Amino acid sequence: MDTVPAAVAGALRRTIDGGGIVCVLTGAGMSAESGIPTFRGTRDSLWSRFDPMRLATADAWREDPALVWGWYRWRMQGVRDAQPNAGHRALAELARHVPLSLVTQNVDDLHERAGSVVDGHVHGSLFALRCFACGRAHTALDDYMEGAQRVEPMRCTACGDRIRPGVVWFGEALPDDAWASAVDAAERCALMLVVGTSGLVYPAAGLPALARRHGATVVEINPEPTALSAEVDHVWRATAAEALQQLSVLPRSIDRHSSAGR
Ligand code: OAD
Repeated sequence: MDTVPAAVAGALRRTIDGGGIVCVLTGAGMSAESGIPTFRGTRDSLWSRFDPMRLATADAWREDPALVWGWYRWRMQGVRDAQPNAGHRALAELARHVPLSLVTQNVDDLHERAGSVVDGHVHGSLFALRCFACGRAHTALDDYMEGAQRVEPMRCTACGDRIRPGVVWFGEALPDDAWASAVDAAERCALMLVVGTSGLVYPAAGLPALARRHGATVVEINPEPTALSAEVDHVWRATAAEALQQLSVLPRSIDRHSSAGR
């Protein structure tokens, strides 16, 4: 696919002409081209290789904190070693030309490292460490031990309990501020781009329908069909990097055309 589908270009043009906001909802597929594994869909996906009930719940943490911390330290290191891809950079570029609200389910920091402001990390952030018991924020990370499956978590300087990753585990509530920002962006946007998510995990997967109910045009960018495909206005079968690079240059050509007509 080497051109922006006409329906998508038209929706972006109408949004710009009408002074509207673009909301971008990203999932694990956004970071796939940076080498970060997705959760589902391939043999290498995280939930094909690991049991989320042993690694991504509060009960799993209580049961075996060293196993859970070791796994998250491995994931953190994978993110540290990765670089933002052309899709992340294209979104930062798009935001220079169009009012854009970025909501992500991803717990990595690749959007920020590409220069974007993230309005809502609805599933938290790997690096936003906090105490499991008292909630105090912590920034220091222990040394990464390659190949170590179990790593005893660091201890909270305030209460002595263990420090956990800042992600949302199964069964936990979403962070209030991030979720409020996500709902606000979904309700206000004229165009929503749904990039690289399987659309299986709620409530985040309900944001495209919310945007549509409030009048937005919703476009899915994903090389594969998803649970959301039937509910969006347009599907664009391309990778995040392919599609967003093409989309990010459109506002400049729209600007050029409008100034030429003045
Ligand atoms: P999934 O792993 O469920 O889905 C990844 C999606 O990305 C699939 O639809 C793929 O087709 C698509 N994809 C793969 N490569 C792509 C590429 N290069 N460009 C664009 N799309 C691509 O990831 P999420 O939908 O983000 O929750 O998963 C939702 C939540 O489930 C995660 O946030 C996580 C997980 O359990 C928590 O950790 C709470």
